This record gives sequence, C-alpha cells and structure tokens, in this order.
Amino acid sequence: MNNFELYVPTKLVFGEGEIKKLTDLVPKGKKVLMLYGGGSIKKNGVYDQVTEALSSHKVVEFSGIEANPQYQTLLKALEIIKNENIGFLLAVGGGSVIDGTKFLSSAVLYEGDTPWDILANRIRTYEGLPFGTVLTLPATGSEMNSGAVVSRKETQEKLTMGGPGLFPQFSICDPTVIRSLPQRQLANGVADAYTHVMEQYMTYPANAFLQDRISEGILQTLIEVAPKVLTDPNDYVAASNFMWSCTMALNSYIQKGVPTDWSVHMIAHELTAHYGIDHARTLAIILPSAYTKKFDQKKEKLAQYAERVFNIQTGTVEEKAKVAIQKTEEFFHSLGIKTKLSDYTDNYQGFGDTVAENLKAHGMVKLGEHRDITPEVAAEIVEMAY
Ligand code: NZQ
Ligand code: ZN
Repeated sequence: MNNFELYVPTKLVFGEGEIKKLTDLVPKGKKVLMLYGGGSIKKNGVYDQVTEALSSHKVVEFSGIEANPQYQTLLKALEIIKNENIGFLLAVGGGSVIDGTKFLSSAVLYEGDTPWDILANRIRTYEGLPFGTVLTLPATGSEMNSGAVVSRKETQEKLTMGGPGLFPQFSICDPTVIRSLPQRQLANGVADAYTHVMEQYMTYPANAFLQDRISEGILQTLIEVAPKVLTDPNDYVAASNFMWSCTMALNSYIQKGVPTDWSVHMIAHELTAHYGIDHARTLAIILPSAYTKKFDQKKEKLAQYAERVFNIQTGTVEEKAKVAIQKTEEFFHSLGIKTKLSDYTDNYQGFGDTVAENLKAHGMVKLGEHRDITPEVAAEIVEMAY
C-alpha cells in the first residue's frame, strides 16, 4: 500500500426527512445565497423543505445553474455574492449545482482578474467561502469531495478544479429525493458512480486489500440496486443504498494508498464539451475502449474484478479480463446506456484528433496510472469507441 494522508472534513447528514436540520447547520449571522438549477426542486418539494428550514435566516436565491455548469452563468452569481455581501453558500441540487457552488466559493476569494484561470491554470483552492449542500441527485460524489468541473460553451471547454478549501461543510443526503428523477438521470447516476470506482480500482495490484474490497463492494451494491432503483425509485432500501454508494465512490476513501487512473473521465469530458452528451454516458462510451487499449497493464485487476464482482471462476487471466470488459459494457446497456460514440452523433470522424489537440492544449499529456496515455493514445481510444 502506498503512503497516504486522508482529510475529509464534510459532515454528512443522511436519511429521510433530514433536510429540516438545515436550520441548525446553516450559520445564522451570515447572509446565505441558495443556489439551484432549472427548477426541479420546486416540483418535488425540496425547495419548500429548504425554505421552511431557513425561514429565520437571511436568504438570497440564485437559480438557473444548468447541467454541466456554465462559467457565464456562474459569473452572474459571483456578482450577487459580492454585491449582497454573502457569507455562506447553500447548493441545492445535483453535481452541477454543487460544482458551480464550489467554483463560486473559490472565485469570490480569488485575487486574479479572470476567475476562469482557476480552471485554465489549474490553481488549487486552499481557502473558499464556506458552503453546504442538499443533494438531489446521487451520482458525482461532489457532496463529499473537494473537486468540481465547470464548462465554458463559447470555447467548448470542460475543466476540473479543486483543493482542500473546497469540501462542503456539510451535505444533507435524503434518499427520497430520487423519486422525482427521470430514468435518464437515475441511469446516469449509477454509471457515473460505477465509473468513479473503476477509475480508482482498475489499475494494477497495489496490496491495498481493504480499498479493493470496499471498491468491489460498491460495484456489487450498484449492480444489485440499479434495476430496483430504475423500476421503483420509491423503494427506500434501494434508494438509500444507491445514494450512499455514490457518495462512497468518490469521497476519498477508496483512492487512498492506491494508484488511480482518471483517464476515462479526462477523455470523456471532451465528449461533453464538444457534443453535450451527458457526463455518465461519455464515460460508458470511453471506458470499454480505454480498458481494451490498456489491456496488458490492467489485465490482472480486470481478472480480479471478473472473479470477485461477476463470479467468473474459470479461464486464464486474459480470458477473465476480457469477460470483465464485456460484462461492464453489458451492465451499462442494462441501464439503457449506449456505449459507442456513433450511437450519439453521426459527426464523429476526426474527433479523435480533436481530443488529442484539446488534451495537449490543457496540459493533459500523461494520463493513466502509468502516465503513458499521451494525446495520441487518447485519440486511438476515442477512435476505438466510434
Ligand atoms: O436543473 P434541475 O431542474 O434541478 O434539473 C436537474 C438537471 O437537469 C435534474 N435533477 C437533479 N435533481 C433532480 C433532478 N430532476 C428531478 N428530481 C431531482 N431530484 O437532473 C439534471 C442533471 O443534473 P446534474 O446536476 O447536471 O447531474 P449530475 O449530478 O450527474 O452532475 C453532473 C455534473 O457533475 C460533474 C459532471 O462533469 C457534470 O458537470 N462531475 C462532478 C464530479 C465531482 N465534483 O466530483 C465528478 C464527476 O465525475 C463529474 O465529472
Ligand atoms: Zn464522473
């Protein structure tokens, strides 16, 4: 196992009916900016629960943070934070609203002229404006990590940021929020969380027995609950196990002491930036070809995953590893998620080269656990996914 430090300061408040605890979790003497998306929270009762819990707080609202939060939209919220002397941010939404809030938490204290530089120049955030979250979509793990992804339509960029100053102070996770999620978002949530585990697990054996077992446990739990969540989001047992799995998939624990990959995400972000394909679906497109391309380096872990997650006990390491990739693709299909770029667009010729250029422009020239996925290799992976 590699040496590691673990720092996860977010207080997680989990369970049905817990949104009311906002009354005590949100600091009183500060003006609060409540941030949310396109309005789903007004239809499903979350907005009412939040405003009721904050009835004795001073609250200003900012709505309209879109899926794949846009820099231009966030700049408008930044103005409000500055003009209204906001002292606390409350994100009520999925990964996009939470990530947008993280960007704002960083940008408001940033001393440079152009907040986009935080993303473009990969400036880590050590101190941010304090914020909390009410999660409405299990998927990203953003409720308990310090990363964020922000998009910029005019330049077709989608970039990551983060740092120890960007953990939510608290996150409220009420599994009943999934009842109003469309099938598409439920499936996305499962596939995103599943891929988060894979990016931290599917590398090479590192003698990290517990991390491996936790990762395999999250994968198995997602496989078990996915059909239940998709057929009946009112099933609280399935919903709560789904939500906790998504948080555990990306809250630091399984990544400690092990090599991590993240190339699937970094390549896939280019597909969202260019075509607007949902984040989770871009992962399902890239993952199978990434593992096929890096088969020799990953085959031992692929075989372990085949044995422990899919109970494949016969065959050589290579045979088991191949089945593992097939089974993963079949799992995405079982969620109703297609795994080829051509399933989403006819306009894919030459896109491998575009990805290579963009990765170069953003300095992402050594991806993967061995730092050997160059832009050229990334282009091949994308071409294999046409
Ligand atoms: O805007 P509203 O009206 O709220 O609708 C949203 C949105 O259209 C809707 N929704 C959310 N909760 C709902 C609901 N609809 C009905 N009932 C509810 N309870 O769902 C749509 C998608 O929401 P979004 O927040 O975009 O989804 P998700 O949570 O999947 O977030 C995706 C974003 O997170 C980034 C992705 O790249 C993408 O930008 N990621 C963030 C990560 C992180 N911070 O750690 C890691 C991930 O790998 C990912 O990259
Ligand atoms: Zn993701």
